[in-house]
Amino acid sequence: MRVIGLMSGTSVDGIDAALVDLHGGDRDLTLELIAAQTIPYSPGLRQQILDLAGGMPITLTELAHLDDAIATAFAQAAIAVQANHAPAELIGSHGQTVYHQPPRLAIHPPPPQTQPDFTAPSLPADHLGYSLQLGRGATIAQITGIHTISNFRAADIAVGGQGAPLVPRIDAYLLGHRAQTTCVQNLGGIGNVTYIPRRRHLSSSFTQSTTSDAYNPLFNQDFDRDIRGWDTGPGNLLIDLAVQLLSQGQQTFDCDGAWAASGCICQPLLDRWLRDPFFAQPPPKSTGREYFGLAFTENCLKEADAFNLSPADTIATLTELTAASVADSYRRFLPALPDRVLLCGGGSRNTYLHTRIQAQLGSSCRVQTTNDVGLDADSKEAIAFAVLAYWRWHDIPGNLPSVTGAAHSVLLGDIASPLVARSSTV
Ligand SMILES: Nc1ncnc2c1ncn2[C@@H]1O[C@H](COP(=O)(O)OP(=O)(O)OP(=O)(O)O)[C@@H](O)[C@H]1O
Ligand SMILES: [Mg+2]
Repeated sequence: MRVIGLMSGTSVDGIDAALVDLHGGDRDLTLELIAAQTIPYSPGLRQQILDLAGGMPITLTELAHLDDAIATAFAQAAIAVQANHAPAELIGSHGQTVYHQPPRLAIHPPPPQTQPDFTAPSLPADHLGYSLQLGRGATIAQITGIHTISNFRAADIAVGGQGAPLVPRIDAYLLGHRAQTTCVQNLGGIGNVTYIPRRRHLSSSFTQSTTSDAYNPLFNQDFDRDIRGWDTGPGNLLIDLAVQLLSQGQQTFDCDGAWAASGCICQPLLDRWLRDPFFAQPPPKSTGREYFGLAFTENCLKEADAFNLSPADTIATLTELTAASVADSYRRFLPALPDRVLLCGGGSRNTYLHTRIQAQLGSSCRVQTTNDVGLDADSKEAIAFAVLAYWRWHDIPGNLPSVTGAAHSVLLGDIASPLVARSSTV
């Protein structure tokens, strides 16, 4: 089945679109990447998204228009990625996150009983997380004429999960290795990791497909249960925001980490930033711009000023915060450091950050990118949402309770069908 995955993350840099050919189910999934591209947002639309995510109030009419403007941009990305290829039969669209609130950790005590027959709910509604992605699937389906699955996070959140990260099950089935434990570390605006135990039932060391003939179902149950994943904290977000502020808007990101590489890391300030309670919080955990956003960055810059850091030293220390928080979280929350780390997402292009993650982890753990093992590092997240849509279409659950903290695994995503379907093959 040809499926398009669409993704735009917390960096709000553009829409990643991937056209893939998928076969099999989950354990015997095979995947071929046919085409991939990133379509940048128009500056005006990007600013509206950043304003809303930053807390600027808007009317409901404006919200509805923004929802459809984002959906239109996503639909255009889907149309663009299909150019010169046979059309897709299904779209999986993550949409654009504008708000993410993880579930509350402390369960409030139930309200006092006022009537003898009143039964207090054991789980108050405010315990559940809340995550809002704009770019409704119905509009994408209408514009493209293709069945579209969106709103992937809601079902996991409804059963007590974080709604994130949702990619670990796909990472595990695409990148698991029979002899080596693996961490797949995405470096988007936020960083998130998938820890993959050894996948001994695999007959091959790596393919983008998995092979069903050699797999042992009993072993595989353990494999699913032992997969881990969580948001590690900042990926590029703090670096991007600091670069914009320190360059007076001349630069939007630190290309290849060149600015950071020219500075010195301020260890006392790094140690202070690493004491942020998010880093010590055990998984399941997720985060977003609401936490590691503009206010957090401005506070970091104020502290850097107090330490008399140059702009280059500040960017170097913020880059080290990403590298050290990734490595620290592996040391804290994994049984042992992995044998290998595969970086992906835009931050995997930051060569300085790559070397710093390697330095933080030490030489026993080899840091590569997913490109090095044949999976496109720029489009892996978009590919994941194509797979999640494909699984939803075939009634296969997508979340991993061991990762999101959900009470159980569920089907993810809402299906929107076009009034006139372009393809009759699904
Ligand atoms: N050559 C490069 N050098 C340094 N950083 C880069 C480079 N190319 C991209 N980036 C960083 O990658 C970011 C975009 O990455 P990406 O698209 O993976 O993030 P995202 O949209 O937040 O994704 P997601 O939430 O899906 O992980 C940019 O904002 C920039 O900071
Ligand atoms: Mg992006």
